[in-house]
Amino acid sequence: MKPSQDLESRRYLYDVLTDPTNFLDHVKRYTSSVIMYSTYGRRVESLDDPVLQAIYEEASVFADVFGTRFLVDKYPILEKLPKILQWWRRKYEPYHQKEVELWMGLWNGLKKQLAAGIRTGCFVENFIEADYPKMGISEVQAAYVAGTMIEAGSDSTQNTLNSLILGLIAFPEVIAKAHEELDRVVGGRMPQFEDSAQLPYIRAMVKEVLRWRSVSNDHFAHLSTGDVMYKDYFIPAGTVVVGNIWGLHFDPTLFPEPQRFNPDRFLGTRTVDLTAGQCINVANPLERDHWSFGAGRRVCPGYTLAENSLFILTARLLWAFDINAPIDPNTGERNKPDVWNYPPRQLYGPTKFDAEFKARDIEKERMIREGIGEKPELLFQDKV
Ligand code: HEM
Repeated sequence: MKPSQDLESRRYLYDVLTDPTNFLDHVKRYTSSVIMYSTYGRRVESLDDPVLQAIYEEASVFADVFGTRFLVDKYPILEKLPKILQWWRRKYEPYHQKEVELWMGLWNGLKKQLAAGIRTGCFVENFIEADYPKMGISEVQAAYVAGTMIEAGSDSTQNTLNSLILGLIAFPEVIAKAHEELDRVVGGRMPQFEDSAQLPYIRAMVKEVLRWRSVSNDHFAHLSTGDVMYKDYFIPAGTVVVGNIWGLHFDPTLFPEPQRFNPDRFLGTRTVDLTAGQCINVANPLERDHWSFGAGRRVCPGYTLAENSLFILTARLLWAFDINAPIDPNTGERNKPDVWNYPPRQLYGPTKFDAEFKARDIEKERMIREGIGEKPELLFQDKV
């Protein structure tokens, strides 16, 4: 999916250059388009895209019922009540029908496209051809797998990037270090994925933002499938075990001065050279970069896509722009951003905030305007 991330990140730079006030909306378009393209081979050219709006409406209902907010999720035995007495269904059953229509609409659209011989190499194309019915998966379930990917992959990456920008304006010394690295390694040309090996500070920034502000606010809950002895604890099968990510990420023995957004903490360690996937699989948990993608068999399957989306946008954003907190007109000083202004939601992302973006030089501005790179003519079309 790197070609899509390449194209959409160049479009992000253009959007920020021409409409800096809405820099957070542009992040949303970027992450939505990357995940839609990976899943259904379909770009999101604008946030007004009606399919995207339907997805966000659905996602907000999902966020409402997600987790253990409803008694039935804490006490599944309630599902044994006759359907008529299952009071939560009255409100949410109609939403489920809408959701089925949404996911099946996308699914059937792709089938038509395939029948017309149009291929993009997206996930659903491969899924259809992998003969999912043989795995005991119905068509609606298959459409839900794809829909879940869209839901799981967009908001999570978006909130992480929003936290990154907040971290940058709150800790401007990080911007200076990133500029130094990018100027030294990349210079005047736009950073590419291939530069990653030479950009340890940018890689460390991606790890650090995932540690600093995990999007999973209520940790991740898993169920033990068998009896387990852990040290002196006996954990019987069927126990809900919660991975306390925030406890780990803010443990000063693991991450000194954990409140600081400080990518330097990873430099000079083995961890900075490991990808998210490699970190997830290290034998020694102290070599993990963070736990934001979860742990164990249910670990996030989208970590490579996410890491690449974060890397290329971070590298290009900092290559292109000076970023600052706005100046307070009363004091003439730059505002001190509130780094804990996050609404209490399950998916953790900062409340809308302001930041200033200025192209770092006129040549970079020209390249951004021209969409320099592969197929610049596609920057504003809804197909790749
Ligand atoms: C910064 C970006 C992301 C973060 C922080 C993140 C984090 C997570 C976490 C914490 C989980 C639960 C893991 C567990 O239970 O142990 C998860 C699950 C999941 N993620 Fe991600 N994710 C991100 C991006 C993505 C992307 C881009 C995709 C799509 C390709 C994706 C697809 C999924 C899916 C399908 C699940 C459910 C897996 C299951 O239940 O077995 N995620 N993610």
